[in-house]
Amino acid sequence: MRAAVYDHTGPARDVLRVVEIERPEPGPGEVRVRVDVSGVNPTDVKARSGEVPRPIDEFQVPHQDGTGEIDAVGEGVSEKRVGQRVWLWFAAAGRRWGTAAEWTVVPDEQAVLLPPTASDELGAMLGVPAMTAHRCLWVDEPPNGQTVLVAGAAGAVGHFSVELAKWAQARVVATAGGPEQIGRAREAGADLVVDYHAPDVLDRIQAFTPLVDRVVEVALSANLPLDLALSGPNTRIVTYSSFEPELTIRVRECMNHNVDMRFVLVYGVPRPALRAAVHTITVALSEMVLTELPVHRFALDQIAEAHEAVEKGIGGKVLVYLR
Ligand SMILES: NC(=O)c1ccc[n+]([C@@H]2O[C@H](COP(=O)([O-])OP(=O)(O)OC[C@H]3O[C@@H](n4cnc5c(N)ncnc54)[C@H](OP(=O)(O)O)[C@@H]3O)[C@@H](O)[C@H]2O)c1
Repeated sequence: MRAAVYDHTGPARDVLRVVEIERPEPGPGEVRVRVDVSGVNPTDVKARSGEVPRPIDEFQVPHQDGTGEIDAVGEGVSEKRVGQRVWLWFAAAGRRWGTAAEWTVVPDEQAVLLPPTASDELGAMLGVPAMTAHRCLWVDEPPNGQTVLVAGAAGAVGHFSVELAKWAQARVVATAGGPEQIGRAREAGADLVVDYHAPDVLDRIQAFTPLVDRVVEVALSANLPLDLALSGPNTRIVTYSSFEPELTIRVRECMNHNVDMRFVLVYGVPRPALRAAVHTITVALSEMVLTELPVHRFALDQIAEAHEAVEKGIGGKVLVYLR
C-alpha cells in the first residue's frame, strides 16, 4: 500500500516520505480500514517535528484521525463490521499505523460507525478535536444549562466545543480572531462572539454575562486574566492548550475567585470518559449537530505541504485524500 512515513523527527520536507509498504493485517480485537480521508491535527505535526516526540517503532505513519471503510476484522471482532463506514480516533497513539496511508489497523472500538448523513470530511475531523471538546465540556459535570466561554471558537476544538455546548443547552460566549472566524463561531451557534484582539473584550462579555461557569481554553497564557475576570466559585477553567509553555499565576487572584483549574490532554483521558465521548459524538452526529470546518484538500504526495499548512495555522481543517 502507499503510505506516508517518517523514521525520525524533523521538518516535514526532510522526514516525510511517501513509500510502498506491506498492507497491515488486523490482529486480535482489531479492524482494518481502507482509508478515504486522513485528518491532520497540530498533534500530528508536533509528533513529526519532534516538538512533542513520541517513540517510533521502526517507522511511523502519521495522523490520528480519518474516515474509511472496514475491509477486514481480526480474531474476536464481528464479521458484520466489514463494509461499515467509520471515523477513526487515536490511530497513531502508541501505534505505527496512522491514517496517512491507504489502509490502517486500529482496535475495534477506535473505528466508529459514521451515520450516512455525515460526510467523509466531517468524519475525518472528529477524533482529536471533538473528543477533546467533549472532555473539556463534560469533565466533572455536564455543561447542560451552563454559561460556557469557548476561547478560539473557530479552531477545530473550539468549533466542536461550541456545537456540543449549544446542543447541551449551554449559553455560549465565544472569542475568535477575525471577521471570518467570528462568522464561523456564530454559524456554529455561539450566542455572543467577541474578537479576542479587541481592547474591550471583558466589557463586551460582561454586558452579556458577569461570570461564566466554564471556560474551554486554547490559549491559557494569553487569556488567563480574562478568564479570571469572568470566574467565580462555580467556574472551572479547562485548558487544553497554551501557546506559551510557561506562565506565572497570581495565586491570590486565583484564590479570590475560588476558581477551579483543570487541564486536559486527550491521550491521557481515562478510557471510560473516551467511550462516553464517542457515545455523545455518535448521538450528536445522528442528530446532525456537528458540522464541517472549511476544508483544505491535499493528496498523499502533498503530505509535507499538508503538515506545513497546519504549522502555518491555516485555519479550517487540513485533510489528506487517499482515493
Ligand atoms: N490537550 C489536548 O488534548 C489537545 C487536543 C487537541 C488540540 N490541542 C492543542 O490545542 C491547540 C489548538 O488545536 P486545534 O486543532 O483546535 O487548532 P486550530 O484549529 O488551529 O485552532 C487554533 C485556534 O486558536 C485560536 N487562538 C490563537 N490565539 C488565541 C487567543 N489568544 N485567544 C483565543 N484563541 C486563540 C485561533 O483563533 P483564530 O483562528 O480565530 O485566530 C485558532 O482558531 C493546538 O496547540 C493543539 O496541539 C490539545
